Amino acid sequence: MGNTGMQRFQGKVVLVTGAGSGIGRAIACRFAEEGAAVAVSDIDQPQVSETAAIIRQMGRTTLDIGCDMGNDDDIAQMVDAVLATFDHVDIVVNNAGTGDSNKSFDEVDSALWDRIYAINVKGPFFLTQRIARHMIEKKIAGRVINIASTEGKTNRGGTIVYASSKSALIGLTQGLAFQLAPYDITVNAVCPGLIDTPIWHKGDKMMDMPQGSTIKMVVDASIESMQLKMSRAGRPEDIAGAVVFLCSDDASYMTGQAINVCGGLEYH
Ligand SMILES: NC(=O)c1ccc[n+]([C@@H]2O[C@H](COP(=O)([O-])OP(=O)(O)OC[C@H]3O[C@@H](n4cnc5c(N)ncnc54)[C@H](O)[C@@H]3O)[C@@H](O)[C@H]2O)c1
Repeated sequence: MGNTGMQRFQGKVVLVTGAGSGIGRAIACRFAEEGAAVAVSDIDQPQVSETAAIIRQMGRTTLDIGCDMGNDDDIAQMVDAVLATFDHVDIVVNNAGTGDSNKSFDEVDSALWDRIYAINVKGPFFLTQRIARHMIEKKIAGRVINIASTEGKTNRGGTIVYASSKSALIGLTQGLAFQLAPYDITVNAVCPGLIDTPIWHKGDKMMDMPQGSTIKMVVDASIESMQLKMSRAGRPEDIAGAVVFLCSDDASYMTGQAINVCGGLEYH
């Protein structure tokens, strides 16, 4: 955790999706540490309840919600639940995301395509649409953060559906930034590089290797090829730091950006 001692988000209400694990949990905890009330959601209810328990231990207000970001009704119910509990939302972080496990081009089928785009692109849009309508009505100078990926800028891993969905999320960020600027709502993306979280452990299981092997292999190869400039994997807290910056007053003139947090893996 950051341990910055700053309390920049006291009185603010934040909603973080995919907050049951990895980057989403770190973002939720960082906002709580800086004084916010944090609503946390995830498709995995036990995991997100665990995040809420951590936030409660920090002495902050929270609400945990089971929500599949690929399901419109779930999103609508989540927004209703958050507004019923907190009355308003200042910041939304679209963090939930899923991948296609490096499926080859001829293994990709329509169902996989629809599912990944529903979670990584359509869900973030419709959640933002609902929250932005509410922010506009309440005249809240809100913040929207989309967790994209450096893969959405340069496709190093070779995934087809995942990487293209993250490119779409960056495009969506720019369109929303354009349309929401008149209401003083900023919309930015954060693009993580190689961050050590459970998303990588699926690869370990598939290849029957000890936990942490896949990311270590990729990080080592990226250092070797001089693509990764800092010689370590990223930590979820590295991403949380960029997110809170983009939601702070210091970033009030930033919108439509896609900021890399990647140890120098991506430059543009
Ligand atoms: N870890 C990395 O190296 C990396 C790199 C670039 C981008 N990202 C992005 O960061 C975000 C967080 O990933 P992470 O690394 O923390 O992975 P993670 O697997 O630790 O966490 C992802 C969370 O999202 C939840 N989730 C998955 N599908 C969902 C759905 N349909 N609805 C709601 N929640 C859902 C999972 O249950 C999990 O709790 C993702 O969008 C991912 O694409 C991660």
